[in-house]
Amino acid sequence: MKYIEELLEEELKSTASVLGYTDANFAVTTCTLPIADYQTSGCMSLAKTYHKSPFDIASEIASNMKSIVADKVEACRPGYINITISHEFLSKYLVEFMENYENDTKSRATHYKTIIDYGGANVAKPLHVGHLRTANIGESLKRICRFVGCETIGDVHLGDWGLQMGLVITEIKHNHPDLVYFDDNFAGKYPKEPPITIDDLNTLYPTAREKSKDDENYLNEAKQATYYLQQGKRGYVALWKQIVDVSKKDLKKNYDMLNVDFDLWLGESDAQSDSEKMVKFFVDNGYAKKSEGALIVDIKHDDDKKEMPPFMLVKSDGAILYSTTDLATLYDRVTRQKAERVIYVVDNRQELHFTQLFRVCNDYPVFEKKPKLDFAGFGTINGKDGKPYKTRDGKAMSLEILINAVKESARKHTDDTNIADSVAISALKFADLSILRTKDYICDPDKICAFDGKTGPYLLYSLTRAKSILRKVLGENNLVVNDFDSSYCNKDLLLAFTQFEKAILEAYDTLSPNILCDYAYKIANIFNSNYSKTNISKEENKAKQTALLYETSCLVLLLEKTLNLLAIKTLDKM
Ligand code: ARG
Repeated sequence: MKYIEELLEEELKSTASVLGYTDANFAVTTCTLPIADYQTSGCMSLAKTYHKSPFDIASEIASNMKSIVADKVEACRPGYINITISHEFLSKYLVEFMENYENDTKSRATHYKTIIDYGGANVAKPLHVGHLRTANIGESLKRICRFVGCETIGDVHLGDWGLQMGLVITEIKHNHPDLVYFDDNFAGKYPKEPPITIDDLNTLYPTAREKSKDDENYLNEAKQATYYLQQGKRGYVALWKQIVDVSKKDLKKNYDMLNVDFDLWLGESDAQSDSEKMVKFFVDNGYAKKSEGALIVDIKHDDDKKEMPPFMLVKSDGAILYSTTDLATLYDRVTRQKAERVIYVVDNRQELHFTQLFRVCNDYPVFEKKPKLDFAGFGTINGKDGKPYKTRDGKAMSLEILINAVKESARKHTDDTNIADSVAISALKFADLSILRTKDYICDPDKICAFDGKTGPYLLYSLTRAKSILRKVLGENNLVVNDFDSSYCNKDLLLAFTQFEKAILEAYDTLSPNILCDYAYKIANIFNSNYSKTNISKEENKAKQTALLYETSCLVLLLEKTLNLLAIKTLDKM
C-alpha cells in the first residue's frame, strides 16, 4: 500500500504534467497549521523554471486537481498547496492499512541477517546503571529489526574473560586455600555445587579489586591466575565455570525483570581460539607490527583529522585484550553465524574502540564479504545533579539501587505493590528509551513515574483506559469492522495511525527507539484529549458508536504494538 503522501504526490504530479509542468516534484508533508491535513511547497521551485508566481501555479494545480484522496485542494500564499483529505477515502484507507501495515513495513525495509551485541554484562560484577541503556535499547532494536523482517539474533557478549576473573579466583583462593580447585595434584571430578553464592560474588570482586590497588603482589597473583585460566588450568577452569553459572543465573533474573532476553549467551571467553587465529592471520600476512613489545595494526587514514591510535592485537605481556576478543567475536559472527550486519549497542565512551575495530575489518581482508557494522552508541544516565549516577564513594551505582528508588516513587501512586513495581519498570524503560540515544539524561524517579506527561505510566494508563472502554461495550467479543464513517472520529488520530509504518522504518533506519516513544505518546495524547468528550458505551447512534469503537481498537492495537517494540510490558488494569 502506498502512503497517503505518496498518493497525493502522484496526483499532484499528474495534474501538473497535464498543465504542462513536466519536471515537478511535490514532497507532501503533514500540514503544520490546523487548516488542512497535508501540504506541499512543490510550486516554489516550479516558479523559477516557468517564470510565473508560485501562487499562480499553485492555484492552477489546485483548481484542476481531480483526486480520490482529497476533499479540498487549496492554493495558499506564497505558493503552497494545502490538502484536506476526504472522510470517505480515509475510512477505506485506514481499514486497508490496518490489514497490511505489517507486510508493507517488511517490504519497505532493507534486510540483513543481523546480530545485535547488547547487554554487555560482566561476570562477577553486579549490573550497574550503565548497563540499563544497552539492555533497553538493544532489546528494542532487536524487536524493531525483526518487525521489519530481518532475521535477528541478540547476543549478550558477556565480559567473562578478563582480569576480573583472575581477581575473583585469587580472592576465593585467599579465603579458602584448601578448596580442591587449587590442589594441583587433584585429578578427580570437581564438585557439582559451586563453592560460592551470588551474595559472595557480589562482595568478592569489589574486595579483590580494592586489594589489588594497594597490593602489588596481590595484583600479580590475579594476573597470574588470569593467565593460568586462559591457558586452561583444570581447577581454575572448573571454578571459573561455576562462577560464570552463578553469575549468569543472577543476570538472567535481572534481565527478565527488565523484559530483556538474549538468544545467545556467548562471552569474551568464547573468542579465545579465534583470537589466536586472528593474531596469526595479521602476523602471517605482515599486517601487524611490533611496537614496544606489543603487536599492533596501523589503521590511520590520510584524511584523519584526529589522532587514530593503532589497533592492539597483543599486549606487551603476551596477553590478548578487549580489542582482540572483539575482532575474534566478529570473525565468528560473520564467518560462522553468517551475519551480514552487526549492531553494537555500547556506551558512547567506547566509540573509539569500535571505530578501530571497524577499520581493522574494512582496511584489511579479514572478510570476503564485508559486513555492515554499526555503532549504536548511547549517552549516560545522570542523577539529579546532572552528573553520572555514582554511589557516595564514587563507584558506579548498582542498577538495583536505581530500580528500588524508582519502585519507591511508583508506590506513591498505588497501594498494589505488584502493579507499582511493574509501573516502575515501565517508567524506567520508557524514560530511558525516549531520550535521543546519543544524549545523556537525568533520571529523576519521581518525574519518570508521573501519571501525566511523556512518561511510561501515562502510556500504560492510556492503554488500560482504552482497553476498558472496549471491554465495557464489547465484553469478550472482537470488533469486526470492514467499513466505518471516519467523520465521527478524531481525524488527527486516524491520520496519526497511518504514520505507524513510517515511525517504525525511521526508528529502524536510524536505530532510534525514541522515535517509537514519540509516536506512542502522540497517539495516546490525541486519544486522551478526545476521551473526556465522548461516551462510547452510551452512544445511541450506532454508526457513530462503531466508528468510535474502531478508532479505540486501532489505538489499542498500535499502542500495544509500539510498546511491545519498546519491550515495555503492558498492564490490563492500573
Ligand atoms: N562488557 C563491556 C562493558 O561492560 C561491554 C561489552 C560491549 N560489547 C562489546 N562487543 N565490546 O563495558
